[in-house]
Amino acid sequence: MPQPVITLKGISFTYPGGKTALDRIDLTFYEGERIGLLGPNGSGKTTLFHIIMGLLQPTSGAMAFFGNPLKDPRDFKTIYRQIGLLFQDADDQLFCPSVLEDVAFGPLNMGASREEAIRIARETLAHLGLEGFEDRFPHHLSGGEKRFVSLATVLAMSPRALLLDEPTTGLDAQTRTRLIDVLKGLDLSYLIISHDMAFLAEITDKVYAMEKGRLYTEEKVRLHRHVHAHPHGAHPHEHR
Ligand SMILES: Nc1ncnc2c1ncn2[C@@H]1O[C@H](COP(=O)(O)OP(=O)(O)O)[C@@H](O)[C@H]1O
Ligand SMILES: [Mg+2]
Repeated sequence: MPQPVITLKGISFTYPGGKTALDRIDLTFYEGERIGLLGPNGSGKTTLFHIIMGLLQPTSGAMAFFGNPLKDPRDFKTIYRQIGLLFQDADDQLFCPSVLEDVAFGPLNMGASREEAIRIARETLAHLGLEGFEDRFPHHLSGGEKRFVSLATVLAMSPRALLLDEPTTGLDAQTRTRLIDVLKGLDLSYLIISHDMAFLAEITDKVYAMEKGRLYTEEKVRLHRHVHAHPHGAHPHEHR
């Protein structure tokens, strides 16, 4: 039996002074699943990821991780080590003066020695084809390079699952293909927010839809290259 990585029950969230961004979300995400998340801008996708990572506290609802109910927000400390978030904006992920330090930061924070953290960082960078980037200043990298370095910072923590928030945005065709190859080569469960349906078709097994804070998982659609979303509905569908 695959283990549930994340279980959300009736999760709602309202930004202070704002409107309801998440409306009674139910989601069970199992180990081994590779799921796409589609939905118009403002439908709550990023908010959902931030709730899962403990960056925001739900207004109501219950969460469990790896089968353990979350009782105390402090428990997120152990969870965020097991679930990696690739931020929608790479500048939110990179804050050190060098690429090597950014990638070593996670392992260091998890208790690795400085030597060990640097070894892990170098290995992760090499795995992603980023040898030679160690001493570069993250904020001077191109969009595609930032995306890969961000991915390195997440993978260096050996997560059991990944959340990727619009990872192909701003990538050229070649870099996008490289990202697809990297993701295909990972033995990891992931949830990916993307508007890029051809991308989702290549790297996910099913796609869920969000609209106005609601999550629709009942249509477990297998995307094909020719799939499109209706202009009047958030649900992707299969052509016959
Ligand atoms: N920090 C914030 N403060 C107030 N409202 C926010 C904040 N971030 C997002 N929102 C609002 O919450 C809703 C969902 O946003 P978001 O989760 O970013 O959507 P998506 O990622 O699907 O584009 C939108 O209406 C957005 O304007
Ligand atoms: Mg977003």
